[in-house]
Amino acid sequence: MTQILEPGSLAGRRALVTGSSRGIGADTVRYFAEAGADVVVNFRNKAPRAEKLATQLRELGVRALVQGADLTDPDSVAAMMDAVREEFGGLDVLVLNASGGMEGGMEEDYALKLNRDAQLSVLDAALPLMGEGSRVVFVTSHQAHFIRTTPTMPEYEGVALSKRAGEDALRERIPALEERGIGFTVVSGDMIEGTVTATLLNRLSPGAIEERREQAGKLYNVSEFAAEVARAAVDPVPADNTRLVGDTGSFNGEG
Ligand SMILES: NC(=O)c1ccc[n+]([C@@H]2O[C@H](COP(=O)([O-])OP(=O)(O)OC[C@H]3O[C@@H](n4cnc5c(N)ncnc54)[C@H](OP(=O)(O)O)[C@@H]3O)[C@@H](O)[C@H]2O)c1
Repeated sequence: MTQILEPGSLAGRRALVTGSSRGIGADTVRYFAEAGADVVVNFRNKAPRAEKLATQLRELGVRALVQGADLTDPDSVAAMMDAVREEFGGLDVLVLNASGGMEGGMEEDYALKLNRDAQLSVLDAALPLMGEGSRVVFVTSHQAHFIRTTPTMPEYEGVALSKRAGEDALRERIPALEERGIGFTVVSGDMIEGTVTATLLNRLSPGAIEERREQAGKLYNVSEFAAEVARAAVDPVPADNTRLVGDTGSFNGEG
């Protein structure tokens, strides 16, 4: 991973990335720490991975707080924010990265609970910690962002609809966030090579990754996409609050 944010540019800033023990979230939180931010590593199941990552990040000279929290459980979200307040005194960047809905054995409406309701409740719980100039980033996929105009593979449709519902619900908050001087950006990307989700979709629908790579010309990998997520937290907020990463030529409409 190469450094993508100016070293020291986030010194004194505090960033929380949901679902940051692995994958895109872990690389995003590392970019913030490399730029000098104190970071919160949030996990649901992967405590040892979260602890290991935090140990590495502390070696960069920043504070790294590890917080286990199931985002669908408001009590555990509240406990996480209490810990952030106590340790860091506030929050400057919130990245809503954690996502799910393809896990087996979950209740029928789990995808909506996590990808819509929990996103709003994490934002609501974080807001009292966030001041003017702070930033919120919501991470999604093109398959979800464009689901109204471009169908996706049936195995992912429920997750895509739930993530789009989450995006819509968050977008309704933009005026209130702007009033408080808080910037909000949605980052949407195509299938990311090397992720559990893409691998799972490829197993359910053999050839899916290859097909997307051919259509798009190039697929981003985890660290490349995480770099875009991290940049979205510091770059000016786009006029439409949307940062589209990679090719969108095969997706129709305005999203
Ligand atoms: N994968 C892709 O191809 C792709 C493409 C474009 C955009 N994206 C977006 O990028 C983001 C990250 O994707 P990813 O593929 O890296 O995801 P992932 O591998 O499925 O990881 C999801 C993360 O969310 C956490 N998480 C899941 N359920 C949770 C819950 N109830 N409470 C707290 N944390 C929870 C997981 O924590 P534990 O590991 O501790 O369970 C994990 O850290 C998502 O928003 C996704 O839509 C992904």
